[in-house]
Amino acid sequence: MSKIIDKIKSKAHDIDPCTLSNYTKFQVECTELQLKVLFDEKILQGKVLFNLIRKENSINEVVLDSKYLKIDSVKVNNEKAKYEIAKEVPIYGSALTIPIKSNKIQLEIEFETTSKCSAIQFIQGDTGPFLFSQCEAIHARTLFPCFDTPAVKSIYKFIGISNLPVTMSGIPREFNKGEVYHFDQPIPIPSYLVSITSANLQKLSIGPRSDVYAEEPLITKCQFEFELDMENFLKIAENLVFDYEWGVFNALVLCLSYPYGGMEIPQYSQLTPTLICGDRSQLKVLAHELAHSWSGNLVTNETWEHFWLNEGWTVYLERRIIGEIAKLKAKERGLNVDPEIYGEEVRQFNMINGWNSLVETCSNFNPDFTKLVWNLKGKDPDDSFSKIPYEKGFFFLYHLEVKLGGLNEFDPFIKYYFKKFRYQSTNTAKFVETLYEFYPNKREILDSIDWDKWLFESGLPEEPKLDKTLANQVYSLVDKWVEFYYQPELFNESDIENFEVEQSILFLETLIEKFKNLEISPNIIKQFPKIYPSYHKSLNGEIVSAWNDLLITYGDYESADDVVINFASWLGTVGRMKYVRPGYKVLVKGISKDYAIAVFQKHKDFYHPICRTMVMKDLGIN
Ligand code: BES
Ligand code: ZN
Repeated sequence: MSKIIDKIKSKAHDIDPCTLSNYTKFQVECTELQLKVLFDEKILQGKVLFNLIRKENSINEVVLDSKYLKIDSVKVNNEKAKYEIAKEVPIYGSALTIPIKSNKIQLEIEFETTSKCSAIQFIQGDTGPFLFSQCEAIHARTLFPCFDTPAVKSIYKFIGISNLPVTMSGIPREFNKGEVYHFDQPIPIPSYLVSITSANLQKLSIGPRSDVYAEEPLITKCQFEFELDMENFLKIAENLVFDYEWGVFNALVLCLSYPYGGMEIPQYSQLTPTLICGDRSQLKVLAHELAHSWSGNLVTNETWEHFWLNEGWTVYLERRIIGEIAKLKAKERGLNVDPEIYGEEVRQFNMINGWNSLVETCSNFNPDFTKLVWNLKGKDPDDSFSKIPYEKGFFFLYHLEVKLGGLNEFDPFIKYYFKKFRYQSTNTAKFVETLYEFYPNKREILDSIDWDKWLFESGLPEEPKLDKTLANQVYSLVDKWVEFYYQPELFNESDIENFEVEQSILFLETLIEKFKNLEISPNIIKQFPKIYPSYHKSLNGEIVSAWNDLLITYGDYESADDVVINFASWLGTVGRMKYVRPGYKVLVKGISKDYAIAVFQKHKDFYHPICRTMVMKDLGIN
C-alpha cells in the first residue's frame, strides 16, 4: 500500500505550480476584502487586509499573486511599506513582493482592477448595469492580490460598495442597507471562491433556507423552476454526506453572457439563465452546484492538478441526488415502477450520457489532460478544462463503489472522507490513503485496483456495465433511423413525444455519431425540421446545440440559409461555453472557418473574457 501512495506522491507536485506566491510560508488567520463597484469606469476599487502568521523566522518577504492589477499602496502593521511588482510571467501574472520583519503581520493593500481583469464582467443587464465575477481556477489574482492557490484557505469578512444590490461569498449581515453590504464567511474558503455580483437584483423564496436572486424579468420564472426541488435536494444531500454547514443556499441567476452552467460560490451559487426553460429539465446543474458545498467548498482540491477531486466527487454526489429525486417522483406520481429500481435506472441513464462524453473527450482532447492527475507546471488550468475531471473522476469513484461492494459499503466512506478533510484542502494521495484507512478488511480489493491506469494514464478506462433500460428506448429509435434513413416518411414527432429531455439529448447525440458512418443525403437532413418540429422550436440550450449540430453538420446548408442564420444569431445570445465553443466548431465544420470567425467577430463583445479567449484559441485567432 505505501508503495502505491509513494508513487502517487511522486507523480504530482507538492507545491502548487500555478501560483507565484510563497504561500507555504504563512498561515492566513483571516482576510477582510472590500470592493467598491464603479459602473461608469468599469473597475473595482479595493482594499484587502490579511492577518498572517509567519511559519519560519528566516522568511523576510510575503510574495502574493497579482495580475493586471493597479497597486496603490501597501501597509505592513499599519506602516507604509515598500513593495515590488515583478515583470509579468505569461499565464501566472506579476508577483507582488513585500518585505516583512515580524511573525504576526497585518498586511493592507489598496488596489484597483484594470480593463484586462479576467475575473469580472461589466455588462448591460435587462434592467440596468450588471457586474459579476468568476475566479476559478486562477483568475482571483486579477481581482485582488492574494495567495491564489486552493491550498490556502481563509475565513473572510467582505464589504461590497455599490449603488445597486451586492452579493459576495458569505452570509449577509442583518443590517445590509444603503450602499454598503457586509458578508461574513466563517468557514475557511480558497481564493477562487471569492466573488462579487452587483446588479438590479430581486429576490424570491425557493425554500426554507433558499432564495433565488435575479433581475426582474426572470425572477418569477426562476422561482417556478427551482422551488419544487430546492429543499429536497438539500435534504437528500444532507442524508448522503452530513448537515449543510453554510446556513443558507441561494441561487443567483446571472445574465446570458455568463460563461458556465454554474459556479459553486458559497451561499450564492451562480447559475446560467439557460437553466430557466420552464420545465425544470435542467435542474441537475443546481444539484451539482449544491453538491459542491461538500466536495470543493468544504473539502477542496489542494492544487488544480487534483481538480478531479472537486468535480468527480461533485458529479458523483449530483447523480446520487438526481437518482433519489427520481425515486421521490416515482412515489409521488404513483408510476407503475418500483421507486428503488427506477431511481437507480435514472442514475444509470445519467452515467451513460457521462460515459459517452468521456469517450468523445478521450478521442479528441490533448492526451496529457485525459489523465486524472495532471502536471500543470507552466500551464494554464483553463486549457486543461474538459469533461475528464468530471467523468473520468466520476467513473473512478463509481468503480470504487462497485468494487468495494455497492452502495451499502461505499456510503459510510463518503461521510468519513468529507468529515476527515472538511475545512481543509486535500490531494489524490491522501484520498487513496483514506480508502486504505477506512477499509482495513478490504485491502485485497484495494490492492487489485489499477491505480496507475486510473490516475496517471491517458485515455479511457475499462467500460463499466451500465443498466440501459432508459437508454434502450432511445437506441431503438436510433436503430430505426440507421436502418431506414432513406425513408424519412417513416418518422415523425410521435417517435419522440414520450422522451424526457435527457433522452432527447441522448437521441440527438447518438444520431450525430451514427450518421458519421452513413451516406445520408443532405436533402433528408433538410426535412428534419418538419419531421421533429418540437426540436426545431425548442428553447432548451442542450437541444438547440445538439439539433443544430445535426442539421448543420450533415445538411449541407449555405451561410444564407435560415437554419444557419438563426443558429449564428443564437450564438450571440448565450455566453455559456458549453454551447458557444462547440457551436463555432459546428460552423467551421458545416460552413467554413472564415464564416465562423466572421460570426465570432460580430458577437465577441457580448462574451465574457474567458469565453472570448477560449473561442479565439479554438478558432486560431490571436
Ligand atoms: N466549478 C465549475 C465551474 C468551473 C470549472 C468554473 C472550472 C471555472 C473553471 C462548476 O461547478 C461546474 O462544474 N459547472 C458545470 C455544471 C455541470 C457539470 C452540471 C458547467 O458549468 O457546465
Ligand atoms: Zn462543478
